[in-house]
Amino acid sequence: MAESWTVRALLTWARDWLANKGVESPRLDAELLLAHALSCSRTKLYVDFDKPLSTAELARVKPLLKRRGQREPVAYILGVREFYGRPFRVRPGVFIPRPETELLVQLAVEAVRPESRVLDLCAGSGAVGVTIAAELPEARVDLVETSPEAAATARENAEALAPGRVRVFAGDLFAALPEQVRYEAVVANPPYVPEKDRARLAPEIVAHEPHQALFAEEGGLAVIRRIVAGAGDWLVPGGFLGVEIDPSLVPQVRDLCARAGFTNVRIVKDLAGLDRHVVGTLS
Ligand SMILES: C[S@@+](CC[C@H](N)C(=O)[O-])C[C@H]1O[C@@H](n2cnc3c(N)ncnc32)[C@H](O)[C@@H]1O
Repeated sequence: MAESWTVRALLTWARDWLANKGVESPRLDAELLLAHALSCSRTKLYVDFDKPLSTAELARVKPLLKRRGQREPVAYILGVREFYGRPFRVRPGVFIPRPETELLVQLAVEAVRPESRVLDLCAGSGAVGVTIAAELPEARVDLVETSPEAAATARENAEALAPGRVRVFAGDLFAALPEQVRYEAVVANPPYVPEKDRARLAPEIVAHEPHQALFAEEGGLAVIRRIVAGAGDWLVPGGFLGVEIDPSLVPQVRDLCARAGFTNVRIVKDLAGLDRHVVGTLS
């Protein structure tokens, strides 16, 4: 990398270099990383397009580009990912929230009363449960997460985005809950990728995100099965269950829901047209 490059020259160089490394959106990523290194907006980069970068500025952006060249996700490098219009802190070891999961939040928010108690299992950064708490300012939300790094990150996000209304419990699904209560909604985006799909995942995912957030045994069904089977003991009658799933699991998940006493079971497609969420009410 030349020492006296302008913003324009650096972005062009970084775009080509990242593209060569197989990065899918090299120009956008180069802009995000340079803006982060310069503590400015992407728009400001264009205002300063022909400004030469100082040695210190180049020294700040170089390691960020190097990390991206190794296919580390942009969200880990920036330490933040936007979800439902809010910034969620993320760090290596913590699953990065995905746009398709925003629909799970929307379905839950539409299904419950504003002052509901809501349980988010498999909380990760807290994206689902914290967003529900932020969208429903009278709701009380409990989060359960098995990974200590993710649980700590969820606590930070809860404090920043819905202070005082979210409790985070570290542990395994319902067993982590300290007292028997009944919730108006149980939501979860659990690990559900079938092991056989591992080879199809991008390096950003398979080499960088925690595998306990991605893969589940029984062809992806193992954690979903325990959530659906257990939810009835924690929901009020008529309570809402919403779970993100792999499209290949639809028949098994429908069957699990019926056997666990759920009615009005629906499969909701994501924006890509894939069967992505199962919702139902406890009879
Ligand atoms: C696909 S990620 C979803 C994270 C977050 N809900 C989101 O949508 O961004 C699944 C999360 O479930 C956690 N997890 C896996 N098995 C679990 C279990 N048995 N009990 C609680 N959490 C679990 C993983 O550590 C991971 O953070």
